[in-house]
Amino acid sequence: MEERIVSGESELNEDSYEYSLRPQTIKQYIGQDKVKHNLEVFIEAAKMRQETLDHVLLYGPPGLGKTTLAAVIANEMGVNLRTTSGPAIERPGDLAAVLTALEPGDVLFIDEIHRLPRAIEEVLYPAMEDFCLDIVIGSGPSARSVRLDLPPFTLVGATTRAGALSAPLRDRFGVLCRLEYYNEEQLNEIVQRTAAILNTKIEAPASEELARRSRGTPRIANRLLRRVRDFAQVKGNGDITTELSREALELLQVDRLGLDHIDHKLLRGIIERFRGGPVGLDTIAASIGEESHTIEDVYEPYLLQIGFLQRTPRGRIVTHLVYEHFQLEVPAK
Ligand code: ADE
Repeated sequence: MEERIVSGESELNEDSYEYSLRPQTIKQYIGQDKVKHNLEVFIEAAKMRQETLDHVLLYGPPGLGKTTLAAVIANEMGVNLRTTSGPAIERPGDLAAVLTALEPGDVLFIDEIHRLPRAIEEVLYPAMEDFCLDIVIGSGPSARSVRLDLPPFTLVGATTRAGALSAPLRDRFGVLCRLEYYNEEQLNEIVQRTAAILNTKIEAPASEELARRSRGTPRIANRLLRRVRDFAQVKGNGDITTELSREALELLQVDRLGLDHIDHKLLRGIIERFRGGPVGLDTIAASIGEESHTIEDVYEPYLLQIGFLQRTPRGRIVTHLVYEHFQLEVPAK
C-alpha cells in the first residue's frame, strides 16, 4: 500500500507518545455521543452489580477511536487492558495463553477480530459464554478434552467490517457499538485538545481547516496536526498560523475535502477508464495497483459517506459530485 498521510490505518510504530494524546476517560472522549452514553450506563450498571461488563463489539471505519475506546472502558471499569489482534493469534494455543493470563475483570481487546481463524473462534465461544476453555490433550484415540476455568473478563472486539464476523461470534457480544465519522466541530475540538497537549498554539481558522480536511477521522486530524506543526516549527516560530497551515496542507497534497493522490487516482481512474462506472471492485483494484480489500476497507468508506461513490449490484459508480470536485463536465447519461 502506498504511504498516505490521510490513511485511517494506524502507523506500525504507534508509540507511547501517540498514546499519551488519547483520552483516558469517557468525559475526555470527544464525539460518538450515543455510543458513549450507552457505555456509561452499562459500565455504571456492571459496577453497581460488581460484575464484569458484558462483551463489547466496536465496529466502523479505521481511525475513529476503537482502540482508544477499549482503553477508556478498561480505565472506567478500573481493570487492566490486555491487547492482541486477530492476525496475531495463529493457533488455539496462542489464544489459550492470552486467556489464562487474564486477571479477574480484565478487558481483553482483540483488534481486527474478523481476522481470527474459524478454529480459534471456536475456542472463544465457551470462553465468552461460560468463562472456560476446552483443551484437547494428546492426539488420536488417547486424546481427551480437559475443561479449564477462566477468570471472568470482558472481551472488547474491534472490526472495520462487522459483516465479515461469523454470526455465532457476533451473537456472543452483548453490546454492539457502531462508531460514526466525526463532524467538523468535534474534529476541531480534538485538534485543539491535541494542540494544547503538544503545547502548540494554533489559530482558529487553521484548526478549522485541519478539521475540514480530516475525512471525519481523529487519527487523520492528529496526524495532519503533527505534520503542520513540523512546518510551523521549521518555517515559522512554532505557532500554527492560518497561512502556514494552508501552505503545509498544499505541500502535503491533501485537498480541501481531505482527499489525497490515491483518492484522486481511484476516482479519476473510474472516470477516465470506465466512463464513470459501473465497474467491479476487482477491476478498479487491478487498474490502480491496490488490493481490493484495502480499497473496500480503507479508501471507499469515506468516499461513500460523502456521496462521491455509490455501490450498485453492477459495480461502483462515481457521482456528479466527483465531476464537480474535479471541475469536469458531468456527462449526459
Ligand atoms: N483523540 C483522538 N480521538 C479523540 C477523541 N474521540 N476524543 C478526544 N481526543 C481524541
